[in-house]
Amino acid sequence: MPERNHLVQAKSLIRALHGEVHAQPTFWFMRQAGRYLPEYRQTRAKAKDFISLCLNPELATEITLQPIRRFAMDAAILFADILLVPHGLGQQVAFKEGEGPVLAPVASEADIDRLVGGAAGALERLAPVAATLRGVAAALPFDTALIGFAGAPWTVATYMVEGGSSRDFVATRRMANAEPKRFARLIDLLVDVTTDYLDMQIKAGAEAVQLFDSWAGVLTDVEFARWCVAPVREIVRRLETRHPGVPVIGFPKGAGIHYREYAMLTGVDAIGLDQTVPLDWAQSVLQKDAALQGNLDPIFLVIGGAAMEQATKRILETLGRGPFVFNLGHGIRPETPIAHVERLCELIRHWRAT
Ligand code: CP3
Repeated sequence: MPERNHLVQAKSLIRALHGEVHAQPTFWFMRQAGRYLPEYRQTRAKAKDFISLCLNPELATEITLQPIRRFAMDAAILFADILLVPHGLGQQVAFKEGEGPVLAPVASEADIDRLVGGAAGALERLAPVAATLRGVAAALPFDTALIGFAGAPWTVATYMVEGGSSRDFVATRRMANAEPKRFARLIDLLVDVTTDYLDMQIKAGAEAVQLFDSWAGVLTDVEFARWCVAPVREIVRRLETRHPGVPVIGFPKGAGIHYREYAMLTGVDAIGLDQTVPLDWAQSVLQKDAALQGNLDPIFLVIGGAAMEQATKRILETLGRGPFVFNLGHGIRPETPIAHVERLCELIRHWRAT
């Protein structure tokens, strides 16, 4: 069976995502490359802006490898951004210092038409990402896995419609509920492009892919089923036929009780838990359907000390006896002391399921 062969040959972290239980959990951290590292800040200064940094294979390869050199996590995550997809579709995207992303907002049918027209050239504009993955794959240590990623359609759509970050997502939810046909066109377009983009990443060396749905937690149950679960299920279904055996990690941040429906219906192999998901509930309700990944609150990595140790041990004790990959509940914060990251790696490495 090809599936079984794949498992035998796969790296430890990939096997964990497929459901293998390990006495010593594998781990990586969201945003493990980033501003808390001085070498990242140094490399970033060489590019004229953040998008050019993400689309420069030499610099992006270097940044992807930086945390691996320091901490030897079990996986590297591609250095890129979820907003490369709107950029690839031809939408104007810029990252302003201290302000976050700024996009030309999508509102009218004509705006969507333009994006649909941009889809044909999207993969070509995103081709440098494949070059980054090839560069990283060639340089990784023997058992270190390579994770590719994209934003999930709902979360990417919020940035496209709001024109940047948002607190309340009024424009996006207005379009989703008052102009559902228009919004569905945007979501369908994102399903198509995201699938092709992840397909490109897998062909270039990604051994697993993660879908970041950072704003899944603001939706009603009806919206969640339609705009979060359905598009993710479709992407997973298409990737499964093209790349059976490449695990998909879904991260519906903030989804609360909806995590259950997400685990049962999307078909993802592994679920990224944010820090608000109760551990006992995750273990008893979710871990039978999927491998779990998470969920140390990144604030504990800023605080360090006994608070971080206790929180880490609780996660390992509760989730570490089933299929599990240790991670944070969200990305590493820029003010995180490097010594705390070193200590956390040591805690995970010294823990054994008994
Ligand atoms: O995890 C990694 O190390 C891989 C790289 C990665 C980045 N962004 C690099 C980045 C990944 C996986 C992302 C995902 C991403 N990007 C998400 C989903 C995860 C989440 O955080 O919820 C979202 C919502 C974005 C969009 C985005 N990118 C925003 C809102 C911002 C500005 C806020 C901020 O943190 O600065 C970014 C910029 C960004 N993406 C940085 C990095 C390292 C900081 C840019 C800098 O150097 O100033």
